[in-house]
Amino acid sequence: MSPFHGNDIDNLLQPEYLANPCPTFNHLQNNDPVHWNPQLNGWMVSRYDDVLALLQDTRVSAASPFGYIFRRSLSAEEQVAVSFIRPYVEQSLLNMDPPGQTRQRAILGAAFSARRLAQMRTRVQGFVDEMLDEVQSRGTIELMNQFAFPLLFKVIFALLGLPPEAHAQARKLFNEASNLIIKVNSTPYPASEHLLRFAENLRETEDLIRPYIEERRQEPQNDVISLMVEAEKRGDLSEKEIFVLCSQLVFAAHETTANAICTGVLALLQNPEQLDLLQKNPDILPLAVEEILRYSVPGQMRPRIAREDIEIQGTHIQKGQRIFVMLAAANFDEKHFACPHALQVERPKKEQIMTFGHGIHYCLGGALARMELQVIIPTLFQRLPGLRLASTSVQWRPNFLLRGLVELPLLFDVPAEVSHDAA
Ligand code: HEM
Repeated sequence: MSPFHGNDIDNLLQPEYLANPCPTFNHLQNNDPVHWNPQLNGWMVSRYDDVLALLQDTRVSAASPFGYIFRRSLSAEEQVAVSFIRPYVEQSLLNMDPPGQTRQRAILGAAFSARRLAQMRTRVQGFVDEMLDEVQSRGTIELMNQFAFPLLFKVIFALLGLPPEAHAQARKLFNEASNLIIKVNSTPYPASEHLLRFAENLRETEDLIRPYIEERRQEPQNDVISLMVEAEKRGDLSEKEIFVLCSQLVFAAHETTANAICTGVLALLQNPEQLDLLQKNPDILPLAVEEILRYSVPGQMRPRIAREDIEIQGTHIQKGQRIFVMLAAANFDEKHFACPHALQVERPKKEQIMTFGHGIHYCLGGALARMELQVIIPTLFQRLPGLRLASTSVQWRPNFLLRGLVELPLLFDVPAEVSHDAA
């Protein structure tokens, strides 16, 4: 492996890093496994063993690592907005430590039971088929925005229990919120207009969801809002937490999985012999999906804060400092994965991949995401024969925490029976 490219190892927004972070991962693992990055104002921990240990280490906290927003001086209007946003940052399990995280996690755990997952598999297959019916005669599809994003909204809204008539508005609000989160998180001094609009967006989302919470209070259904309402009745969850968790689930489920689908399809198209192996031997699908998730990691790193002074690989980390736990780098650690830079769809499952984290925050939707990929990937290649890239170059989003493509334009051959039907 060549040394990392680019002039500045700390600049995680440079195009070379966004296109291929692996040279940087290996450079850090071999030379500076606990690296201070002044641009991130935090430590980057890159070796598999250290990542695994940190994710179980009670001396680090997942609580509100972006809480600095709340410490700057704010106008009266901004204060109102920030107090509305605050629970969304601080009261969702992803950004909480036990005991609050443990309580919320226990409530949501039932949402991902094997039974519910089996029911969801049928629905996911139905959504995919419906969407592909629409595009199959076109010979072209932009996978990210035309397929992955809308599909995953359908899946998560179905899981929550939002009815189809609420979907268009919910999509609009969650899309806008995603953009605002990036703007608000990317600077310690977010623009006032972004803070104010973000609070407004969350208010509108609460207004949209409230009637369905009310409905489930009267008449529970087989959905996640009903699960949360039951917990509310037992006194285990507040109404505010229901709103926060609904949003959390949409964000946790949506962009991560969309990125996994698109970067996964890209990886298969760039490694045609691996795609061929998978197509000739569908039994390896679970292994292939695991390998795709090892190789194309959406959540590249997760932030933590040291609660006390700690030492990793002889490097001293001070209490209060930020640590970026590099999940993606761990998946490319050659001490744990042979030939990590090669996509190998038959790779035996020996080591846990870090794509879904580890320990108490281990992804609640991991089994759902795996199931989605197991449905979507073979269906795409079966229903869209000759699927291929429409362009030789791809554009990566300027985001080093969540890796993904801006878009993935693809071409395919229109199946004879479809072009016949269309004519
Ligand atoms: C390929 C898709 C996905 C990836 C790569 C992914 C990745 C992750 C990672 C790395 C974490 C741990 C974060 C940390 O330790 O700080 C996490 C947590 C979480 N994920 Fe996922 N996720 C995916 C899909 C989903 C889906 C589909 C859902 C729900 C429907 C979901 C819900 C959650 C929740 C609720 C947590 C927080 C768990 C906790 O803090 O206890 N994720 N995810």
